[in-house]
Amino acid sequence: MLGPVILAASRSDRMRRIVSAAPVTKPVVNRFIAGETVEETTPVIASKAARGLEVTLDVLGEDITDPAEATRARDAYLRLIEALAPLELGVRAEMSVKLSSFGQALAGGHDLALKNLAPVVEAADAIGTTVTLDMEDHTTIDSTLAIHAEMRARFPQTGAVIQSYLFRTEDDARALAAAGSRVRLVKGAYKEPASVAYQDKSDVDKAYIRSLKILMDGDGYPMVGSHDPRIIAISQDLAHRAGRKLDEYEFQMLYGIREAEQDRLAAEGHRMRVYIAYGTDWYGYFMRRLAERPANLAFFLRSLVSRG
Ligand code: FDA
Repeated sequence: MLGPVILAASRSDRMRRIVSAAPVTKPVVNRFIAGETVEETTPVIASKAARGLEVTLDVLGEDITDPAEATRARDAYLRLIEALAPLELGVRAEMSVKLSSFGQALAGGHDLALKNLAPVVEAADAIGTTVTLDMEDHTTIDSTLAIHAEMRARFPQTGAVIQSYLFRTEDDARALAAAGSRVRLVKGAYKEPASVAYQDKSDVDKAYIRSLKILMDGDGYPMVGSHDPRIIAISQDLAHRAGRKLDEYEFQMLYGIREAEQDRLAAEGHRMRVYIAYGTDWYGYFMRRLAERPANLAFFLRSLVSRG
């Protein structure tokens, strides 16, 4: 299995330097990243909105090493919100935030991340939209869910993410569903040990369906974050059985992946949100996309070989 090897490389500084410097990397990266700046990304947002798609925006950055970088990450989101205001998309353009980019892993990181997050959620609320907290590796979950709960006390629309590969996730799904939260369910993209996570893909898929059912039957707003055709079909069925209307849950997929399917679901009247990442710190995000699908890696390696 190459996936775990690539996920290990996604945390290696040496690999980061090699991959980032390879001349062929950029065109492959561009398949998954909408741009390097907010100016390059706004037209992409507008064109998705014109096609009836909603978006969630991720200013790339993670694993920072000092509080000044966290402040810069916060400011990048505030600039994004300023750029979104004139588009008047409201909740059709929300934000996804990785708390590690706001300082969560630094000393005193929980409070630092909360302090950096608050003005972003406030600014998002002021233009009629909201923020979803991406979920990173399992060591961050308790802190992230506590920050989510704290934010929701003032901004109930703040979203959380749960990952079906973790043993704990059905319990988290139950708690969040009862609390009436917006919850994105994903399979999980990090390298996790067998002590906390299913290692077998079919177990992860089955666990996904179990948590999906909890969310669909619960009081919250489920956000189905997956490109998997079986999961999409089962979601529609579970939503129907739970008596949910089309605007009482949504699908979410990543920019650059299964775009025809994104358009098809939107055309059928579903809420379909595209996760758009942009910025210069794309290495970790890019490597996780390679790890998810051997064909992406093969494509990348072929370009390395054929171009020298
Ligand atoms: P699966 O990996 O089984 O793929 C099903 C099919 O989708 C594949 O057969 C292929 O056709 C297509 N596909 C999937 N990945 C592809 C790729 N990289 N390139 C090309 N085709 C691909 N994870 C996390 O840990 N924390 C988070 O906060 C988030 N946030 C998030 C938001 C959104 C909107 C999405 C869609 C995903 C995430 N993820 C995430 C990532 C998630 O955990 C997972 O790694 C990917 O979605 C891949 O899993 P699928 O459910 O798509 O199924």
